[in-house]
Amino acid sequence: MNGHPLLKVEDVHVHFGGIAALAGVNLSVPEGLIYGLIGPNGSGKTTLFNVITGFIRPDRGHVTFAGRRLDGLSPDAVARAGVCRTFQSHRQPVTMTVMENMLLAAPMQSGESLFRAATRFAAVRGEERGNLERAYEILDMVMLGDKANEYAGSLSGGQKKLLSLAQALMNGPRMILLDEPVAGVNPRLIEDIAAIIRKLCHGGQNFLVVEHNMKVIRSLCDQVSVLDAGHIIAEGEPEEVLGRQDVLEAYLARSGTEARPDAVRQE
Ligand SMILES: Nc1ncnc2c1ncn2[C@@H]1O[C@H](COP(=O)(O)OP(=O)(O)OP(=O)(O)O)[C@@H](O)[C@H]1O
Ligand SMILES: [Mg+2]
Repeated sequence: MNGHPLLKVEDVHVHFGGIAALAGVNLSVPEGLIYGLIGPNGSGKTTLFNVITGFIRPDRGHVTFAGRRLDGLSPDAVARAGVCRTFQSHRQPVTMTVMENMLLAAPMQSGESLFRAATRFAAVRGEERGNLERAYEILDMVMLGDKANEYAGSLSGGQKKLLSLAQALMNGPRMILLDEPVAGVNPRLIEDIAAIIRKLCHGGQNFLVVEHNMKVIRSLCDQVSVLDAGHIIAEGEPEEVLGRQDVLEAYLARSGTEARPDAVRQE
């Protein structure tokens, strides 16, 4: 860590009609960590991911990554700048195989231009081979090595989450944003997913993780920030933050959500 945050969000505002989904959000994520972003349902976590990754342009504010402004860039340009994400719900075409989904996620280089592709056929073929090898390596890393030829639709919920992570890794990003990586996943696979994220982090991969499972947040994250109604209300180490009265009250105020307050208190 060099003291400068890798990802910096400054005074970000997003409105949907009359709703302020983000109302002046500031966030500093240092290099080398698994950083958690938590908060009750509807507090703005996915909206913040959408802003960082170029899917939503903020009404106000800036996003900086490794010293470079991201706000205003397209999702593809953000990915090329080193930030990739997974989505809260499954998006993979279910009638394509796991490997086809992986190749779909591969960054295009020489194949980007048809003319270049036609004139540099050998280079394109070489790139395809490279992508294929890389995809197998990544699938092995996320325990999907034996699923390459199966339809994405045949995977369990947890395996689909792992495929999303694997697809993000195809781009070789410096930071990955995970939107609820263990939601709806069976407990044994939750442990495996957490172990894979931890291992990737030890290998130098940076993560920003949105998750409602507080046990996972506690075991995985070095630091967390709490969003409530579009405002960051707390930040620090998980144990300290999850023990705070105002954080508990934020969850209580929105009881009936998936993120029940008992999950904050007990786990
Ligand atoms: N495209 C949209 N159009 C209108 N309102 C939206 C849109 N996306 C999000 N919102 C609203 O913005 C607020 C924040 O939503 P967001 O999805 O960011 O919350 P979240 O913290 O990710 O919630 P959850 O934990 O349930 O996934 C909510 O009030 C939501 O209804
Ligand atoms: Mg969300």
